[in-house]
Amino acid sequence: MIVQNQMETVKISPIENQNPRVKFWYPQYSNISLDAQIGKGTTIHSHVWIADNVIVGENCRIEAFAFLPGGVILEDNVFIGPHVCFTNDRKPPSDKWDTITVQNGAKIGANASILAGVTIGEDALVGMGSVVLKDVPAGEVWAGNPAKFIKKL
Ligand SMILES: CC(C)(COP(=O)(O)OP(=O)(O)OC[C@H]1O[C@@H](n2cnc3c(N)ncnc32)[C@H](O)[C@@H]1OP(=O)(O)O)[C@@H](O)C(=O)NCCC(=O)NCCS
Repeated sequence: MIVQNQMETVKISPIENQNPRVKFWYPQYSNISLDAQIGKGTTIHSHVWIADNVIVGENCRIEAFAFLPGGVILEDNVFIGPHVCFTNDRKPPSDKWDTITVQNGAKIGANASILAGVTIGEDALVGMGSVVLKDVPAGEVWAGNPAKFIKKL
């Protein structure tokens, strides 16, 4: 169930109750599904949307205004910059949703958009403002629109 209104959103505290080590900043300004899984040590800043069927690992940081629709999987130690927009529907509106996986330690810069079905590899770094249409291999920096290889880390 997605919590719809701001007063109710305060009740996302059940998530905190299930996992008191998740740190929320101003949860009343976020929409966090009670069905989302969020790992311990993760910090979620304000105005974040996290839908059903989202899995967030441990020690992640999700900055303000990030949008995580159903099917997004963040492994552990992932950084999601402000205004990052994940998508789950390549040809909207459709009933076919693809997943996006962000593997351990990967970082996504501010305002990046990630196409449904893409995987961001372990420890990879996506530059700010990028439009990511393809898988980003582990340990590489990709940036631009469309995002392309910049260098290895
Ligand atoms: C991707 C990034 C890490 C690259 O930084 P860097 O290693 O110092 O690389 P450089 O600045 O030397 O840039 C290397 C090349 O990539 C290009 N580039 C860098 N960042 C880019 C971006 N976001 N989009 C498009 N191109 C980019 C540069 O123009 C340069 O191209 P050139 O060689 O043709 O001149 C950095 O630009 C970035 O986007 N950081 C994320 C910041 C952010 O969102 N932080 C979130 C917390 S607020």
